[in-house]
Amino acid sequence: MTEGSKTSADQDQIALICERYQNNPHRMLDILRDAQDQFRFISRATMQSVAQQTGLTQVAVEGVASFYAFLSLEPKGRVTIRLCDDIVDRFAGLAAVAEAFEKALGITVGETSADGAFSLEYTPCIGMCDQAPAAMINEVVLTGLTPDKVREIAVALQDGKRPEDLISDRFDNLSPHERAERMVASNIKHAGAVLLGPVPDDAGLKAALNQTPAQIIDQIEASGLRGSGGAGFATGKKWRFASQTDDDRRFIICNADEGEPGTFKDRVLLTERPHLLVEGMTIAARAVGAHEGILYLRGEYVYLRALLEEVLAERRKAGLLGKNILGTAGFDFDIRLQMGAGAYICGEEGALISSCGGLPGEPKTRPPYPVTSGYLGHPTVVNNVETFCHAARILDRGAQWFFDMGTEGSHGTKLFSVSGDCINPGIYELPYGLSVRELLEMAGGEDAAAVLVGGPSGTMIARDTFDRKLTFDDLATGGAIVVFSAERNILEIVEYYMSFFVHESCGYCTPCRVGNVFLQKAVAKFRAGLANPADIAYLKDLSATIIETSRCGLGMTSPNPILSTLENFPLVYSAMVKPPKDRIRATFDIQSAISDARVLAKRRSSIYDKDFSR
Ligand SMILES: Cc1cc2nc3c(=O)[nH]c(=O)nc-3n(C[C@H](O)[C@H](O)[C@H](O)COP(=O)(O)O)c2cc1C
Ligand code: SF4
Repeated sequence: MTEGSKTSADQDQIALICERYQNNPHRMLDILRDAQDQFRFISRATMQSVAQQTGLTQVAVEGVASFYAFLSLEPKGRVTIRLCDDIVDRFAGLAAVAEAFEKALGITVGETSADGAFSLEYTPCIGMCDQAPAAMINEVVLTGLTPDKVREIAVALQDGKRPEDLISDRFDNLSPHERAERMVASNIKHAGAVLLGPVPDDAGLKAALNQTPAQIIDQIEASGLRGSGGAGFATGKKWRFASQTDDDRRFIICNADEGEPGTFKDRVLLTERPHLLVEGMTIAARAVGAHEGILYLRGEYVYLRALLEEVLAERRKAGLLGKNILGTAGFDFDIRLQMGAGAYICGEEGALISSCGGLPGEPKTRPPYPVTSGYLGHPTVVNNVETFCHAARILDRGAQWFFDMGTEGSHGTKLFSVSGDCINPGIYELPYGLSVRELLEMAGGEDAAAVLVGGPSGTMIARDTFDRKLTFDDLATGGAIVVFSAERNILEIVEYYMSFFVHESCGYCTPCRVGNVFLQKAVAKFRAGLANPADIAYLKDLSATIIETSRCGLGMTSPNPILSTLENFPLVYSAMVKPPKDRIRATFDIQSAISDARVLAKRRSSIYDKDFSR
């Protein structure tokens, strides 16, 4: 399909897609996702038709289409292979896997084959770090890839097999849970008392129905529950704020965007505890007086969509969602699934709400906070998957039970996603308060030289501080624990994470959009041995400016890979500093100067055009 060649049959298809969502501009992301699936790209003609159907301008439609990585303005292959380009995947052999795909398909990464059969590209962390290298092939996830496996995959696809057939030749007969399980192992290495041990069906919801909304909130507050999405805000307080708003329409949104590199615990809860999650959302709805909910699922987890849709349908049938839930007059609540489309920033709650409303995922200036003005301008509670699961268990077992686990200020248990250089990567549910060293012992990561706690927006610590505690007051984490052995190059890791932030900045604030590019370049300069002593001060000063002047948490934390390694691995930087006279000829490099300009002009594809041989 080429530009301007939309036939009337195509236009009918677009009209049907839009009608599927009542021509509602707030469902723009769903409309464009469906159009992408149908036509393999979003052409100008498609945007024009969608604009007409939904009453928006074409510019507004294009603003959405061009924001999300999984929507494409150029035709994609019938089979699109997205290789996870996370640093853990690189260390696990991504380069060889990519090369095997390139050879087998006759295209290089970033290309689509001339016959339109295949596209091959890199994508940031897809949440499979415990089984890297991994890839998405259309909506199928493949893990633990090797060059041999890749050759078999390519032959099968070239022979006309569907990506689903790579999972099982009876894929269509499998249940959604079986399909998910066969694609991705849950890798539960330690089940704790709250989430991954035995969980009775809907005991928390039944208990909640015997309580007033205020009593539910009192219990959540008394339990000490804090959000698991990263910021650790008190959940009871958030629910109370929302319940006290003067509005008759409120929303509950579950943040299942899980994009922080190294984090994959929500993936496991969505697979293994989906009913508990929906139960928690339903309890939250009861507590704050909401009738509508949205489960926002990151585009990379599309393989879980059928499973979650099935769970929602089962619960509607069982009277656990819908009107008069479990016979309680006036307790009406239902949830729709909102797919994301490949944008890390959409995990930030303001951006998430924009994305749910069919807009580009741009964070908002705060206040107002979502609890007073969120989705469609109404009070909205946004919580992480794990937080909702915790809430359901608290209602079942009581606030004191939860409060008594963990430490002062960090109550209950936490799911840790452990990956990288350790023998037993996977999920560990542990009470708050363990040290990094204790977790490493459990995961067979005792040889670690560095551990990244909380993903790139968290902290990289060195061996001499492994006794630090995994709590909100010491090393806070949404759940990511990435282990690096002594053979890894810290500067390579830091440069990679900076490239991630450059790629994922929404571009609204200049310090975040441009400053992170300069930070990445400066780290590259250290890696190349071209830095001088003043560059260390430059890194610190620029980082401080970005943190201070950025609008949202992405910019406010993006310099953390640099700042935490400057603090905990100072020698890594100072060892690469050269006296000025050695640098004069070497520093001017026309290609790198041009590439700066390209990035600043937002031609971001260059960031993922990498030479892995370095
Ligand atoms: C750049 C960025 C990405 C984020 N990604 C996620 C995410 O994937 N999942 C999540 O629950 N919270 C994420 N957050 C935090 C959310 O903004 C929000 O604090 C959280 O969803 C609230 O839920 P909680 O209180 O249960 O933690 C992100 C924040 C930022 C700044
Ligand atoms: S800090 Fe970065 S991601 Fe956040 S709003 Fe500004 S440009 Fe966008």
